[in-house]
Amino acid sequence: MYVCICNAITDKQIRQAADAGVRNMWQLQAELGVASNCGACKEHAAEILRENRQQARRIEPEIYCPSAA
Ligand code: FES
Repeated sequence: MYVCICNAITDKQIRQAADAGVRNMWQLQAELGVASNCGACKEHAAEILRENRQQARRIEPEIYCPSAA
């Protein structure tokens, strides 16, 4: 789904950027150009970043905690 219409950026691209290390809107804007024109997409893009970070936190303990294995 398109999140940033001005720059034709999808939620999938935002999630991929987050998976590659993007952690905040400044980084996302620098990486993809999200919210660099009208700014209408900024809140939605930030929400996708937050969701991605929360998902990563839920997954990381299983990956990095040897005692959980
Ligand atoms: S919709 Fe993203 S800058 Fe306009």
